[in-house]
Amino acid sequence: MILVTGGAGFIGSNFILDWLAASSEGVVNLDKLTYAGNLASLATLARDPRHVFVRGDIGDAALVSTLLERHRPRAIVNFAAESHVDRSIRGPRAFIDTNVVGTLELLESARTWWQGLAGGERTGFRFLHVSTDEVYGSLAPADPAFSESTPFAPNSPYAASKAGSDHLVRAWHHTYGLPVLTTHCSNNYGPRQFPEKLIPLMIVNALAGRRLPVYGDGQNVRDWLYVGDHCSALRAVLARGRVGETYAIGGGAEMRNLDLVRALCRILDARRPGRDHAAQIEFVADRPGHDRRYAIDATKIERELGWKPAETFETGLARTVDWYLANGDWIDGVQSDEYRRWIDLHYA
Ligand code: NAD
Ligand code: DAU
Repeated sequence: MILVTGGAGFIGSNFILDWLAASSEGVVNLDKLTYAGNLASLATLARDPRHVFVRGDIGDAALVSTLLERHRPRAIVNFAAESHVDRSIRGPRAFIDTNVVGTLELLESARTWWQGLAGGERTGFRFLHVSTDEVYGSLAPADPAFSESTPFAPNSPYAASKAGSDHLVRAWHHTYGLPVLTTHCSNNYGPRQFPEKLIPLMIVNALAGRRLPVYGDGQNVRDWLYVGDHCSALRAVLARGRVGETYAIGGGAEMRNLDLVRALCRILDARRPGRDHAAQIEFVADRPGHDRRYAIDATKIERELGWKPAETFETGLARTVDWYLANGDWIDGVQSDEYRRWIDLHYA
């Protein structure tokens, strides 16, 4: 067994689906089911005994300890987090509660469990912490890409909370010897991403005939990675990563937001002819403190673990659009009252 936290979210659900497609090893999935958690993403596993879903908080030490003792996982993969930068700007507290305090509690539960293990169970145990490139701050146009040695300079409450959790993970290794691995990935996209993030928001709005809100001048750059490639990188790190190391993961696919939204509109124009989707683009007020550019130098994971993305940005984006076009029920299901309130408040 492995214990996955946050497995009902975007990347976690893709990770579990990919994991169970490739392995007979079961997964315990601990997820609080916040607005971002959605069991419909895991509907195909409803009758699969290899997937054990538990609704709960990573900060609930009693629950986590019980799960560790009951299932004896050989690894914890920690996806659970508050993940949306805009929400962190409007309400940072939940980000500190889960990303910092929740990670602290999870680390303590893992440490207590791991210290009681012996032999191969102890030496083989891993705590894989899934983090972000946003901890490195923002790049100028000519700066070299982020790598594992780039100093932390988080700019948003979200990024600061993730940086805080990363420091805790590092310290738990240095001080207690907990066998940790940390990854720093660039922007993911693909199926099952909640439509508050750029790509699914634009697809959902475009299909509904709503405006496509581009922040500021639309020239901010992100380095996009298809979610399936992030999942394969995490499997490689878990299998072969060196304990205590960090790994930067990215797609080598830098895009300006406006270019990306236009590319999306072109795919939609082809799939749903009759509407000029780009005419729905509207420039709106910028995000406060908006990071200008992210880019990842993924040389280390390529060299040490032989990982490379399988998807190009063009193929990945087309697959993503096709998934949303084929999954209208999923889109309807996640647009809860809470979602509509967020959209109304944020884009008012
Ligand atoms: P998401 O918001 O889609 O999913 C987060 C999941 O965590 C949800 O299912 C939610 O219910 C759950 N959760 C939240 N608080 C919890 C708690 N206290 N206890 C248990 N479960 C809790 O996020 P995502 O985009 O899938 O990101 C997953 C992880 O990957 C996060 O740690 C994020 O920082 C990191 N990451 C994301 C990206 C990206 O582009 N999305 C890139 C790099 C790293
Ligand atoms: O870099 C990794 C990070 O990528 C992850 O750690 C975060 O969890 C994830 O949310 C993502 O953060 P971003 O802030 O880069 O993603 P988001 O989709 O919110 O925005 C992408 C870019 O698009 C960013 O420059 C802001 C812009 N944007 C976003 C929204 C929601 C818009 O122009 N309009 C929008 O409506």
